[in-house]
Amino acid sequence: MMPAMPSRALRQVSRRKVLAGAAFAVALGSVKAAACQTVVGRHVMQKNGFDRERFVEDCAAAGRESDGQAAVREVLVRAVADSGAVRSVMGEPLRAGMDVLHRSATLTIFAAKWTPQMNLLAHDHRMWALIGIYAGREDNILWRRTRDGIEAYGARVLFAGDVAFLPSGAIHSVTNPLQRFTGGIHIYGGDFFDTARSQWNAETLKEERSDGDTIRAMFERENERIRR
Ligand SMILES: [Fe+2]
Repeated sequence: MMPAMPSRALRQVSRRKVLAGAAFAVALGSVKAAACQTVVGRHVMQKNGFDRERFVEDCAAAGRESDGQAAVREVLVRAVADSGAVRSVMGEPLRAGMDVLHRSATLTIFAAKWTPQMNLLAHDHRMWALIGIYAGREDNILWRRTRDGIEAYGARVLFAGDVAFLPSGAIHSVTNPLQRFTGGIHIYGGDFFDTARSQWNAETLKEERSDGDTIRAMFERENERIRR
């Protein structure tokens, strides 16, 4: 006898539980947006809507706190709780790329847009990072260094409204599994575009150099792939 199909909500919870391994949660923490308060520390967030300039100001102020990543995460959680409002301001993602909202030596904020079924190689950031999804879905694999390379040890699926936080030593690879674009607000605790980083070859897992130019070139290849 076939078991009864669980409800959609139950299937959703079960799928997330399976994919969000306990080990992964240690290094790639997350906060569900709905749990956020209206008042975040000293930063009183708008209850409805998303204001691009106000968001940057709130993130910059939060980033100056003693635990800047935690404070900025709360601002981001509040923002993507209304993912539709963020999407209406940032626009429906229709092209791979980065829409930069803010760049300084201590904080970078941009909207990253992934093409349908886009894959990003495993890479590090050399600074803390936050990802808040406002459209589509992003699948993360978390990697860690071993004596002679890297190994995968966890996975996490992010839907619109989810926020992930990665410590400065995190390594992850990213996939958009959907047939449509994914959009997310990415925030880094440093100058993302002026920091040399590493990425790892998908077949050999050999460590390679990466930087802002490497990432821009990847986005252009993705847009070309979609055009063909
Ligand atoms: Fe990343």
